Amino acid sequence: MKVAVVKERRAHERRVAASPDSVKRMAGLGLEVAVESGAGEAAGFTDAAFAAAGAAIVPDAAIALIDADILLKVQRPLLAGEGERDELAGLKPGLVLIGLLQPQQYPAAIDAYAAAGLTSFAMELLPRITRAQAMDVLSSQANLAGYKAVIDAAEEFNRAFPMMMTAAGTIKAARVLVMGAGVAGLQAIATARRLGAIVSATDVRAAAKEQVESLGASFITVDEEAARGAETAGGYAREMSADYQRRQREKVAEALRRTDVVICTALIPGRRAPVLLSEAMVAEMAPGSVIVDLAVEAGGNVEGSRAGEIVTTANGVKIIGHLNVPSRIAADASQLYARNLVAFLGLIVGQDGNLAINPEDEIVKATLLTRDGAVVNPALTGAAESAATPVPGGGP
Ligand code: NAI
Repeated sequence: MKVAVVKERRAHERRVAASPDSVKRMAGLGLEVAVESGAGEAAGFTDAAFAAAGAAIVPDAAIALIDADILLKVQRPLLAGEGERDELAGLKPGLVLIGLLQPQQYPAAIDAYAAAGLTSFAMELLPRITRAQAMDVLSSQANLAGYKAVIDAAEEFNRAFPMMMTAAGTIKAARVLVMGAGVAGLQAIATARRLGAIVSATDVRAAAKEQVESLGASFITVDEEAARGAETAGGYAREMSADYQRRQREKVAEALRRTDVVICTALIPGRRAPVLLSEAMVAEMAPGSVIVDLAVEAGGNVEGSRAGEIVTTANGVKIIGHLNVPSRIAADASQLYARNLVAFLGLIVGQDGNLAINPEDEIVKATLLTRDGAVVNPALTGAAESAATPVPGGGP
């Protein structure tokens, strides 16, 4: 069977859905891989590296796709009228499309995949179960986003993170507050600690406290009792009551007086991100403070953050709202994403190298969007019992 890997054509996307390492692994599954020339360029993977790993390099996406059975993508394919080309044109019915397809945000695109007869899988719908861990694209990308958020903050912060005792005087350690201690938040805590900052964190889920403390950060508890009911069966956060949110803001406002850098990562699946820092709270922060709003694409945790911009407030606080943060660390993000996809291919490709999609498999059931011309995903057809909706899939 043939796998096509094409250049990502959406804005702000530097990642690619394969790496030289993943090409070798796909060969191990009995798959032949064709890579569009230049597909890995923005992520630092050359055509030569892909070729050395065993991929066929083809001059254009259309050629890679002519006889492809599987198309690996990061972002949703461009539809007619969306950009330089219609990326569904010429795909053969039955082709397996795998990517971050953002089905909840772009339902019309799902209908287009069905109309084109594609078998499409949305990787962000993967259940957070142990067996799926190696395929968990949300975790692999969020982890890197958490790291990069701290590096981005350090870049904009006019001071050092670690305490330094020098002959010319002592530099105080920076104080970092991480809001939302999921995958991205925990990595942000670890990264800020490695840089020598004094770190505190908050989350609505009770389980987060122990994880935060095990990384050497202090935890800001808002309400222990409410925290016990804040986690869904899937491990995600619920939207908290207005009263909880008010008390959370009070606690955070107190912590902000001693904070130089805030990293916001809070998301609620299927909903707008909670607003954790109001304009008034930001206005109280010291000039030179830096806030990173990793939730900016989901509506933002910070009042006044703007997607794709670094805003400087009247009181001199910088609010960083970079788009698609995993793409800002494109080599590692692609490497890990590509490995996630190989693990997923291991599930849907049989020993003989042919497709063996088991519709009863829990992971297949959760991620399969369309098959044989129809939308089949229970979360999209309304047949799902729980709204196990994903967080936004990384990018516009
Ligand atoms: P996420 O990206 O949906 O949200 C980020 C964080 O924001 C979460 O920790 C959430 O509790 C927090 N949050 C939401 N509203 C908030 C508010 N108002 N104030 C403060 N914090 C708020 O979450 P992510 O990172 O995807 O992790 C979700 C869960 O999945 C976690 O429990 C994690 O441990 C679990 N997980 C399980 C895996 C597995 O294979 N078993 C793999 C990866 C994650």
